[in-house]
Amino acid sequence: MSSFYIATPIYYVNGAPHIGHAYTTIVADAIARFQRQQGRDVFFMTGTDEHGLKIQRSAEAQGITPQEMVDLNSAKFRDLFEQLGLTYDRFIRTSEDAHKFVVTELVKRMKANGDVYLSKYEGWYAAADEAYYDESEIKDGVAIASGSPVEWVEEESYFFRLSQFQDRLLEWYRSDVNTIRPEARYNEVVRFVEGGLHDLSISRTTFEWGIPMPDDPEHILYVWVDALTNYITGVGAFQDEARFEQFWPCDVHLIGKDILRFHAVYWPAFLMSAEIQPPKQIFAHGWWMNESEKMSKSKNNFIDAFVLAKEYDLDVLRYYMMREIPLGRDGNFAKSRLMERNNSELADNIGNLVNRTFRMVKGFLGGVLPAHSETTHEDDVALRAKGLQAVQNMTEHVEALRIHQALETIMDWSGELNQYIHKMEPWKLNKEGHAERVAEVLYHGLEGIRFLATMLRPFLPQAAEKIGAALSLEASDWNFSTVQSWGRLPEGREVHKPEILFQKFELEPKAPVEKQAKKKKKQSAPKEEKKAQKGDGYAKFEDFMKIELQVVKILTAERVEGSDKLLKLTIDAGEENPRTVASGIAQSIAPEDIIGWHVAAVTNLKPRKIFGIPSEAMLIAVDLPDGSIELTRYSDTTVPGSKIG
Ligand code: MSP
Repeated sequence: MSSFYIATPIYYVNGAPHIGHAYTTIVADAIARFQRQQGRDVFFMTGTDEHGLKIQRSAEAQGITPQEMVDLNSAKFRDLFEQLGLTYDRFIRTSEDAHKFVVTELVKRMKANGDVYLSKYEGWYAAADEAYYDESEIKDGVAIASGSPVEWVEEESYFFRLSQFQDRLLEWYRSDVNTIRPEARYNEVVRFVEGGLHDLSISRTTFEWGIPMPDDPEHILYVWVDALTNYITGVGAFQDEARFEQFWPCDVHLIGKDILRFHAVYWPAFLMSAEIQPPKQIFAHGWWMNESEKMSKSKNNFIDAFVLAKEYDLDVLRYYMMREIPLGRDGNFAKSRLMERNNSELADNIGNLVNRTFRMVKGFLGGVLPAHSETTHEDDVALRAKGLQAVQNMTEHVEALRIHQALETIMDWSGELNQYIHKMEPWKLNKEGHAERVAEVLYHGLEGIRFLATMLRPFLPQAAEKIGAALSLEASDWNFSTVQSWGRLPEGREVHKPEILFQKFELEPKAPVEKQAKKKKKQSAPKEEKKAQKGDGYAKFEDFMKIELQVVKILTAERVEGSDKLLKLTIDAGEENPRTVASGIAQSIAPEDIIGWHVAAVTNLKPRKIFGIPSEAMLIAVDLPDGSIELTRYSDTTVPGSKIG
């Protein structure tokens, strides 16, 4: 079995977890889940970075020991990841003894190979970033890149001969363009290294909270030497050879763009010095902004990760974060976008497909899976081919970490299935007595939904599990090997309608221009005029008599592309020709359910165009307290055109 190792950065424990921490770990979780479904032996690691000057100062300020502080704060991250339902295999902490041993061992090797020497450091240091800066990187007492205050440091320090690694690093980058991704970051790193490298100060004598330099405990190792080493501690470096062999080099270090230099320059150089292979890939993702504002301490506008976990359905949060921005780009977290994506993509596309298909399987087939038939119907053949292609495309996208494109492929597949059902009209086939064809079409619908659930599972595990439970899938059914051919769902299995997959958000109604204008006019009307508009509260009998209420029969019903509210219907109002109606009932009523119904309608309203559809009547509906809509139905023997009154 092939192995796959993915690691997130380990997080500083001096602040509260925010959206950035949640994001990296969620994306890594989706990739890990995907690889498990590929049948790989996956190791997914995250954890906390607990040493350093910054932590020591924070603890001092709080009047507790650093160990007490890191214990408390590391637990918050674990707690968060639990709330987010993340499936890491190991949560590593740099204060663990096993880690201290590995760091010491690594530095010993670097030293033994002549890459570490004692000298004096003079320069700028920003404790907030735990980073050294050149004069050129500083302005007005702060580091230009991060805005963190810097302090002048002059002390004895061990140095790592980073300058000696320029050629080896460049050779490594050039060996494979995928060593650093995305491409723009690759270029950035190569340019930086081509510009020449200074040796790196790797120890400090002015704080204690860290791992001592081997053979010189006065010196505490620079926190990045300590932190980066977590990636090899996690897979048994210097302790468990077989395990290390299996998982190292790491397949992906998924990190944020601000810590690229540490990962793409320092880390491989440390490893090369100790004669260990560098990782296979470092992928730097972008940064989230909060409703178009950069998040910063000064603005105090970090999006709290616990609030995210609590406020949103986890699947919806995952979907939004991974679909909204290509991995690698910056993005803007906007609640309105999340709600829109939920409503129009998850609920309308996937939710609707799953609902209507299962409803028809229950209604037309008694909830029992029909046999798979290799039909030659051209739409079936095309659908199967598209399903298999979707799996292949989606797989390639995830392997290449084009996560948002993988999700786009999945959504397109759901759209294909919706279109197929729409075109095949199983409700019509059923009515016309084509039982065999109904079974074929619905089998294809369900098998397509199984494909959909398999692909969705890494990203929306809860929704996928609900669909899986409805189809009685077992653990082994999730492997991607099960979607390399069509027709796996077994005949005779009972299926059940799944629990609701996605709840819609109430979106702020966007008032049409016309309405807004009217509202304004009304508001500005003088009091007397308002009274006259209102009248005495009664409708005049003559007014009522002007309204023509009739029983009409629904002949056809379909959704209207681009609108989640409207159905386009044709109705028989007892006249020679059917009438067309646009009715705002789509959120509560499935079109296929109401065909043939006899319902009430106002038939003498002036025709008007709604969403481009000429509407020649208005269906009478009941608004239920839960916000849904029900039609008032008459018996099928009521003759269309009968007057109500
Ligand atoms: N401890 C170091 C990493 C050591 S790894 C050997 C560290 N920790 S951190 O807690 O400050 O940052 C962790 C991650 O959060 C980084 O990858 C960083 O890019 C990411 N993010 C911080 N703010 C972010 C956003 N606003 N948006 C997305 N990710 C962001 O650095």
